[in-house]
Amino acid sequence: MTETKKSIHGEWSSRFAFILAATGSAVGLGNIWKFPYITGENGGGAFVIIYLVCILAIGIPIMMAETLMGRRGRQSPINTMKDLAKEAGADENWHLLGWLGVIAGFLILSYYSVIAGWAGAYVLKSVTGSFFDGSAAEIKSLFDSFIASPLQLMFWHTLFMAVTMYVVSQGVKGGIERAVRFLMPSLFFILILMVGYAMSSGGYEQGLEFLFYPDFSEVTGESVLTAMGHAFFTLSLGMGAIMVYGSYLPKGISIGKTAILIAGADTAVALLAGIAIFPIVFANGLEPSSGPGLLFQSLPIAFGNMGGGFIFGTLFFILLVFAALSSSISLIEPAVAWLVENRNMSREMACLWSGVITWLVGLGTVFSFNIGSEFKIFDKTIFDLLDYLTANLMLPIGGFCIAVFAGWIMKAEHTREELAPSAAWHYALWKFLVCFVSPAAVFFVFLNVIGIL
Ligand code: PFF
Repeated sequence: MTETKKSIHGEWSSRFAFILAATGSAVGLGNIWKFPYITGENGGGAFVIIYLVCILAIGIPIMMAETLMGRRGRQSPINTMKDLAKEAGADENWHLLGWLGVIAGFLILSYYSVIAGWAGAYVLKSVTGSFFDGSAAEIKSLFDSFIASPLQLMFWHTLFMAVTMYVVSQGVKGGIERAVRFLMPSLFFILILMVGYAMSSGGYEQGLEFLFYPDFSEVTGESVLTAMGHAFFTLSLGMGAIMVYGSYLPKGISIGKTAILIAGADTAVALLAGIAIFPIVFANGLEPSSGPGLLFQSLPIAFGNMGGGFIFGTLFFILLVFAALSSSISLIEPAVAWLVENRNMSREMACLWSGVITWLVGLGTVFSFNIGSEFKIFDKTIFDLLDYLTANLMLPIGGFCIAVFAGWIMKAEHTREELAPSAAWHYALWKFLVCFVSPAAVFFVFLNVIGIL
């Protein structure tokens, strides 16, 4: 592999642009919508601790592995894996790992876009005063009747997919980089405003206690799997999104420091989102663990009944849409890059095709909340099944294989070259984590969940 090789799709204009894009991918519905409710369901602070350990011991080393593999391969994850396997003299079937990623990206985006669509709809509801003075029952029925309407969900899903595909069609610099340069600073700004608002809501101490007081009696093997799956999901790992973004990273940028910064920013946003959400929930006497409806049922009650709720409610749902958009573009980029490389398509055509397919698969999620809610596989609706399959199985399996590939298959001189300049002990620590700790952790958690341990 030559030093000068560049991606045919372009490059980020700076290290900062990569950090914004990768943080944009990482910070998403996972941080603001999912983290608070799974924390609520799994015992609050105890879950947060397990999750933080997963980020440090598994997430950061695998993020470094994915980034370095992408930068070395300089193509879509499928072709990158093909080339890297060849370079390492390994079996060419390793490229299937790229396929696993592309498929996971499609599946995640298909339901992600539906939930992002809810957020879009709630921006409108908030602006038009739908929550104003609403009782808990009224707000619940507003939500229930919204998700019961396939047409409404389809409309917002379509709109969100169209915006996502438009951004991606404009290219790495002109589309993705331009979008995140606007989205990410706005997102941080709104989040800080929200935290300030929550601090004045009256439920602050209770919220913090819930988020940080560890009650280990609620932790089960399943919650450890959830924490690990979420670490992969929230950092966008195990499916090639970070790999493809890494392929646009110029040489000479320290991957280790960059990965720590991205993981730190992502974790900060998840915690800040919790700090913004739980006090509002407690101040209004609501339940913290009300599942996926937490943001769309509990918070609007609070917004409808608190001073400034109109403005903050609107800002909050805009925050959610922005976070979702900067992630969704990274979910589809691996597929788009592959179509351009292998099918000789223009970026626009590649976006059209992949967007239409994802949109179609997304209808499964749309119907999970209404006409298809009785249709269950393994006792799960299509939405629940896709979420479980991707976050709890595909991403950890993908991450496991990435760790094994970077740790055991790639030649040490190549990984060292990509991670340079790094102190010898930094490299040794990374190598130890990807060779032993990350794969073993994923493996044991799986054994535990399937009941062998
Ligand atoms: N990290 C995103 C979130 O927390 O919402 C979700 C995600 C994006 C997962 C991109 C995977 C991915 F490749």
